[in-house]
Amino acid sequence: MNPTETTSALILLFGATGDLAKRKLFPSLYRLYKKGSLNDQFAVIGTARREWTNETFQQHVKESVMASTSQCEKLDEFVSHFYYQAHDVSDSSSYRTLKTLADQLDEQYHLQGNRLFYLAMAPEFFGTIADHVKADGLTDTTGYHRLVIEKPFGHDLPSAEKLNHQIRQSFEENEIYRIDHYLGKEMVQNIEAIRFANALFEPLWNNRYISNIQVTSSETLGVEERGRYYETSGALKDMVQNHLMQMVALLAMEPPIKLSTNEIRSEKVKVLRALRPITKENADEYFVRGQYGPGELEDERLQGYREETNVDPDSNTETFVAGKLMIDNFRWAGVPFYIRTGKRMPTKSTKIVIQFKDIPMNLYYQPDQPLAPNLLVIHIQPEEGITLHLNAKRAGQQLLTNPVKLSYANNSVDGMNTPEAYEKLLHDALRGDATNFTHWDEVALSWRFVDVISDYWEEKKASFPNYEAGSTGPKEADELLAKDGFFWWPLSTLEVDVCN
Ligand code: BG6
Repeated sequence: MNPTETTSALILLFGATGDLAKRKLFPSLYRLYKKGSLNDQFAVIGTARREWTNETFQQHVKESVMASTSQCEKLDEFVSHFYYQAHDVSDSSSYRTLKTLADQLDEQYHLQGNRLFYLAMAPEFFGTIADHVKADGLTDTTGYHRLVIEKPFGHDLPSAEKLNHQIRQSFEENEIYRIDHYLGKEMVQNIEAIRFANALFEPLWNNRYISNIQVTSSETLGVEERGRYYETSGALKDMVQNHLMQMVALLAMEPPIKLSTNEIRSEKVKVLRALRPITKENADEYFVRGQYGPGELEDERLQGYREETNVDPDSNTETFVAGKLMIDNFRWAGVPFYIRTGKRMPTKSTKIVIQFKDIPMNLYYQPDQPLAPNLLVIHIQPEEGITLHLNAKRAGQQLLTNPVKLSYANNSVDGMNTPEAYEKLLHDALRGDATNFTHWDEVALSWRFVDVISDYWEEKKASFPNYEAGSTGPKEADELLAKDGFFWWPLSTLEVDVCN
């Protein structure tokens, strides 16, 4: 498949007046349009409950694009492709009206019957919409029909199975694009290139040379206005089941025989199958949770999670998770993959640290300065790059070493401005490339893994809050590594050096 290929399609966007559409989808579509990845043969029908006109909708799209960039050439031309239809998701007559408009635009823009149904709305409607688009004839065209679904895909394995069963009545697995926006991030996609395009790393990428891997995704924000959703989710379901487990799968998978959707997915699935299952009896050994209380960040007083809007004052919901994943296969036996994510931490940062084993004998022994282990750090965000931590001789007569860093930062490469995750994912969905979307098998296996932990946490109340807003999380997260003889590499010491 040609990565720059343009495509004709009708995009039916459910939830068009929502936040995701405004913040991510419209600006991403606009960037694709400007780059020529969306040609003039495209149209978007936005739907939602509100009674908007096409003009109101187009103005809304315009404002969302203008909020994202100051370079707005061809914007009027772009928004002229947007249409709006007020819609009731559970009413067949609404879908029939939609079909009439869809068929008309299909002809007007020569869209060849290609349709992308994008569900950017509350998950309880995913199944209903999938049912209706088929039953009410919106998929009765000769082109492709693809369903793009935002997370969460279920809230546990049984609900995910039910949803999957329902949407599979209308769409084949290869027509379903389950979004995990982390898979659209440039440096998450780079994990494969770093591993499989370098002779240097792959021979060392196993339990003989790697002592542990640490994946951290920390956020400074609290739950903001999402208290209602977050109370039913918590960090485990919101971040671990999807984003963090996906990154672990990419780090741990075997080299695929080629970089095709099916080969990559099948290797990721094998990793998830090899995860050592957690039980209620041993959950505390492998996973710890936290909830932020009041605290301070950059001189700002912050309230605790329990004081946030739409949050139960006695809430048992975790806003922080740290865990140890063991992958019981030949390559990884004995190597812990530590994961950590939390809200209201000191920095917004996602990093992966691969810590190599100590060399067998230290010839440069200095009592006050043990030899630092080699680290490969993959900077996912906000900065994008890789850093290799080595030891080199300190200049001078003595045989002493200094830690040195070799850094590569994406933004120091000439003119490079990496596309946003959503831009890439939308483009992939339009081109029919499902590699960076999660297959049902991955969703099911990761729910199976986290369900045990979340059931156990539901039964066993925590003593929350247990970390201050603005701190790195509860002390139990440090103890999780300390008992294995490790520690979390402080994110502040791992910065990528940007040299232009
Ligand atoms: C979303 C979660 O999937 O990812 C949010 O629902 C979280 O709670 C967000 O804030 C983090 O994404 P990013 O790209 O900002 O790291």
